[in-house]
Amino acid sequence: MSAPAPGGARRTDLDPVVNLATPLALADRRAPTRVLFGPHETNLGDRRSLSARHVAYYRRRAAGGAGLVVTEEASVHPSDWPYERCPLASACGPGWTAVAEAVHGHGALALAAIGHAGGQGSSAYSQAPLWAPSRVPEVNSREVPKWMEPEDVDAVVAGFGEAAGLAADAGLDGVEVNAGQYSLIRQFLSGLTNLRGDAWGADRLLFARQVLEAVRAGAGPGRVVGLRLSCDELAPWAGITADAGASVAATLAPLVDYLVVVRGSIFTASATRPDLHEPPGFNVALCHSVRAAVRGAGLDVPVFLQGSVVEVGQAEWALGAGVCDGVEMTRAQIADPDLVAKATAGDAEGIRPCLLCNQACQVRDARNPIVSCVVEPTAGHETEDPPIEGTTPRRRPLVVVGGGPAGLEAARVAASRGHAVRVLERSDRLGGSLAVAAAANGRTRLSTFVDWLVAECRRLGVSLETASAVTAADVARVEDEGAAVLLCTGSVAGARSYDLGQGAHVVVHTAWSCLSALADGGDPLPGVPDGPVVVLDPVGGPIGVSLAETLAARGRPVHLVTQDHIAGNELARTGDLAPANVRLQQAGVLIERRTLVRSVSTTGVDVEDRFSGAHRTIPAVAVVDAGHRLPDEALWEETGRRVPRAGDAVAPRTAYEAVLEARRSVLAIESGGPARPLAGIGRAVAGGRSVAP
Ligand SMILES: Cc1cc2nc3c(=O)[nH]c(=O)nc-3n(C[C@H](O)[C@H](O)[C@H](O)COP(=O)(O)O)c2cc1C
Ligand code: SF4
Repeated sequence: MSAPAPGGARRTDLDPVVNLATPLALADRRAPTRVLFGPHETNLGDRRSLSARHVAYYRRRAAGGAGLVVTEEASVHPSDWPYERCPLASACGPGWTAVAEAVHGHGALALAAIGHAGGQGSSAYSQAPLWAPSRVPEVNSREVPKWMEPEDVDAVVAGFGEAAGLAADAGLDGVEVNAGQYSLIRQFLSGLTNLRGDAWGADRLLFARQVLEAVRAGAGPGRVVGLRLSCDELAPWAGITADAGASVAATLAPLVDYLVVVRGSIFTASATRPDLHEPPGFNVALCHSVRAAVRGAGLDVPVFLQGSVVEVGQAEWALGAGVCDGVEMTRAQIADPDLVAKATAGDAEGIRPCLLCNQACQVRDARNPIVSCVVEPTAGHETEDPPIEGTTPRRRPLVVVGGGPAGLEAARVAASRGHAVRVLERSDRLGGSLAVAAAANGRTRLSTFVDWLVAECRRLGVSLETASAVTAADVARVEDEGAAVLLCTGSVAGARSYDLGQGAHVVVHTAWSCLSALADGGDPLPGVPDGPVVVLDPVGGPIGVSLAETLAARGRPVHLVTQDHIAGNELARTGDLAPANVRLQQAGVLIERRTLVRSVSTTGVDVEDRFSGAHRTIPAVAVVDAGHRLPDEALWEETGRRVPRAGDAVAPRTAYEAVLEARRSVLAIESGGPARPLAGIGRAVAGGRSVAP
């Protein structure tokens, strides 16, 4: 069985009974809906305890209709400290109580994820060796773990039981045990990492059974015990295959109250929560086969589908088609905490869509950020961001210049607060660079946010006026009429970092011009003769990589020039680094590493090796410059630099900053604050205090 297209078949023609709003019995509890907000690293913690920010984050999702809220995984034993602010079960009691109260206040079940990362942890925080079933170096960190001696195994099993007991004492409804991608339990289950010659090696399920029995005993009667299980490690040479995974699930199912089917292992970190290159609902077939195996064993343990389920239509189809009994929608509820409430109220169109971009919710990167979301920047900042909901007594007309993400979000928020809003966009297209990139790539997930913003603006009565260029005189006139003005004019091409040699014949295009041509269904390189193309990507982001892929797919020989050691260097943050390099390789793109473009000549591109300084020429007929952009400040300068700005018009960044600054700007305009918006002023740090003593 394969996943239907997003928004595809709805369940109405299938099972008439089960939908997202159908309650689900688990142990002696009842989840009010079948939508699970899954455990994920947030960095919201205060050292190793849960913070008030955690509580607010989970409360918000429960208020929006999540049936089960599973908190960030807590380590069950001090030997596990995989990231700086990873909760430790023994420090979580007060935080769990606060979460339970907050989540129960909205009728949802609250569970604690508990686990141990084993060899996939880190010794950076504990300065102690990692514990793992066998001495298999971790693929990503390269760290060699310590082989767990029998007393270590016993201590961790006991730790699981104690953690479950603490969770129950704290008032939670139960726990979810992690045997997923990053877990010691999976390491014991797998031939990739369990090479032991003792009882735990002879029976690779032994450790999991011992853990689940200890957890059941610790949690006590009536509490829910869930299991997150990697049912396909995507490493068929020794890992858990899909067939074996179904059998493991059926064997362990009698010990638990629900199962969440996930995939991935140490070799496939990018498969854990892939970005939009992977279709939504990528685990549908796997989940279906696991559920069939569980049912085939005569067990009615509920099975949850996981994996980029971001469309209500797909979630309900999966429930109706017997793929699953419940659906995990984690990123979808980071992006819109009210997803379930809107869906059950018949307003699925009103759900703010998750783009599967991984740009702000993926926490474990070198910047060590806290969880947030490109389309909902208040995610993770519930205790700090002033609310944008509600209406204002200070209504005034607002003219937003520029209809990209910043302009549309400002218009949406202002209109929802009662202002009369016009958006004046000089081009024929709304959505700015996001809309162009989406249209150029045919990636409908990126378009969903622009479509949603436009639809919300229309619903709220915003006047959206395209092909409307604005001058400083226009700005002065509408200001005289009493309107506030916000400039969201976006960006322009940045300065060239290389020379155009004498009589250069090689054509230079910007990435933007190529994307615009593609978005209009045209030739990305109009008038350029057949021949090789150099894509210059000093940013290392998605634009240069996707253009190289697109041009190669159109039959152009492509050289992707980067100063880094790897193409798409910054894609590490979104998890697309390895997949992007695989795609480039498969497309036949030649990657010129450690390379700087120095000049463009009559026959090609003169490049310099960053280390050796050696020069050579790459033959080419065109260069596509995917370099940095600069703010479009023309109108701002004309107006004497006094009109507030937001988004790329301040400094070109991502849609995240555009949306965030748009919201701040509307509130600043309302409060009669300084002409300059709050752009650039960070959030208050208050609110991050721990609820633990
Ligand atoms: C920021 C972030 C951090 C995550 N961290 C964990 C984690 O620590 N343990 C885990 O089992 N899953 C983790 N996940 C996976 C989620 O629980 C979820 O299974 C995953 O996001 C796929 O579901 P989705 O496609 O509905 O978002 C994380 C996901 C995100 C977005
Ligand atoms: S940052 Fe992107 S992937 Fe993450 S929740 Fe938001 S929209 Fe979804």
